[in-house]
Amino acid sequence: MHILVMVLLSVHALAGVFWVGSTLALSHSYFELTAKLFRAQMVAAVFAVVAGLALWGIVIRGAQDPMAHTLAVGALLALLAAGVQGSMRRMPVRSQRIAAVLLSGTVVCMVIAPYMT
Ligand code: HEM
Repeated sequence: MHILVMVLLSVHALAGVFWVGSTLALSHSYFELTAKLFRAQMVAAVFAVVAGLALWGIVIRGAQDPMAHTLAVGALLALLAAGVQGSMRRMPVRSQRIAAVLLSGTVVCMVIAPYMT
């Protein structure tokens, strides 16, 4: 089980880093580049979310503690960001800017969650 959690956490963090990093970079970019990277971003988003949900099922399960609540807020912000990126394709740079704010919130929640007591 430990190996599975380590693999999932690695996939989760790598995909998440690409998703968030490219979103932050593209928020200072231009139309053509955001369109070019859209598919790769959405693939990374799917990997991050699916691995995150699997981790939730294994590590958190039914826990109702501050760590679980903080992770849940972060996950919600990530899902909102994916929705914004998917639905605002006609205004890609603006969608990247909104998603950048939401995903920054996700990263903060994910990394502080273990210290919430
Ligand atoms: C629906 C979206 C997401 C869900 C359900 C989710 C779920 C989780 C869960 C359950 C953990 C705890 C794993 C453990 O303690 O072993 C975790 C950790 C983590 N997540 Fe997410 N996550 C999501 C999105 C993201 C995104 C977009 C990022 C972007 C980088 C991210 C980065 C991280 C990191 C770095 C950790 C490790 C935190 C640490 O232990 O210090 N997550 N996530």
